[in-house]
Amino acid sequence: MSLLSVLSLCVQYQSAQGTVRAVDDVSFDLEAGETIGLVGESGCGKSTLSKAIMRLVPCSDGRVVLDGQDITNLQGAQLKPVRKTMQMIFQDPYGSLNPRHDIGTIIGQPLSVAGWSRRDIRDRVAELMQQVGLPADGARRYPHEFSGGQRQRIGIARALALRPKVIICDEPVSALDVSVRAQVINLLQDLQQQTGVSYLFISHDLSVIEHVSDRLIVMYLGRIVESGRGADLWRQPAHPYTLALLAAAPVADPKLARSRTRSILQGELPSPLNPPTGCSFHERCQMARERCSQERPLLRAVSGGRMVACHYDLLEQPAGVPQAVSAAR
Ligand SMILES: Nc1ncnc2c1ncn2[C@@H]1O[C@H](COP(=O)(O)OP(=O)(O)O)[C@@H](O)[C@H]1O
Ligand code: SF4
Ligand SMILES: [Mg+2]
Repeated sequence: MSLLSVLSLCVQYQSAQGTVRAVDDVSFDLEAGETIGLVGESGCGKSTLSKAIMRLVPCSDGRVVLDGQDITNLQGAQLKPVRKTMQMIFQDPYGSLNPRHDIGTIIGQPLSVAGWSRRDIRDRVAELMQQVGLPADGARRYPHEFSGGQRQRIGIARALALRPKVIICDEPVSALDVSVRAQVINLLQDLQQQTGVSYLFISHDLSVIEHVSDRLIVMYLGRIVESGRGADLWRQPAHPYTLALLAAAPVADPKLARSRTRSILQGELPSPLNPPTGCSFHERCQMARERCSQERPLLRAVSGGRMVACHYDLLEQPAGVPQAVSAAR
């Protein structure tokens, strides 16, 4: 049994303009100690999916099973044990830390909610601060006294406080300077080694999560379009959208970089209020044919544990790959 199972999850928002299917029939399993990277352009539903898993927004359909318990319909106080098992780290370390509380209070907050004594909280906070590399004398200082990278360490320490089994990291380094991103990612990896925690690691930038993820999930307009082992997707994407994301991601290897710049993602993400017919990617896809605007491709298993939602995926139809795409590979 998986640590976290997401089964056909759907989330809809109602607005004056209509209904947005922000998450549409998403399923995956996260195993103990594993990192799944979730990638897709801004607006594709990553944060909504993570909030639905955390039970911070209601699901309109589907189920979330955490550590053997169906948590989909738990309410209020019933969610307390869920908060112990599963925590979240947010993109904005500024916005998610109360500026009027000192660091000790912020990091200790989940412990005080869980009813720990003041003394135990103080000891655990000191231990956490050391674990995430914050200065030992920092507990009485306030968020504004820390740099962006240190503030994210505060958020990480708070998330770790109750020794969760799962941490959802929603764009944890996107707001940070490039120079400190690697430090925070390395810290998250070290903490995983020490504690065995599982991550759902979200980023709009594939290059950020590619090398830390055991498996990758690519989302487009609320749906999974490809999933598989991280290294496989990076080397040989099966979905044209994954290929386009790869082309947009900076790569260190200059040869690989040159070969990828030719498949650039065209156009904007369509409005989720009025999604395209057929394959939701067809208006931007270099491989689209007539069938693509009429018939929605189902997510199906291909080789090596890979799933892909495309009528003409890049693994199975190399002969059918148009010039522009094959040049980019
Ligand atoms: N509270 C909300 N009410 C209405 N629509 C929302 C709300 N939050 C997000 N959305 C819409 O849902 C879609 C997915 O958003 P989001 O989950 O934030 O995507 P991502 O995290 O991938 O950028 C977007 O079209 C966004 O505009
Ligand atoms: S189904 Fe068609 S439009 Fe959609 S990704 Fe595949 S080739 Fe492109
Ligand atoms: Mg988001």
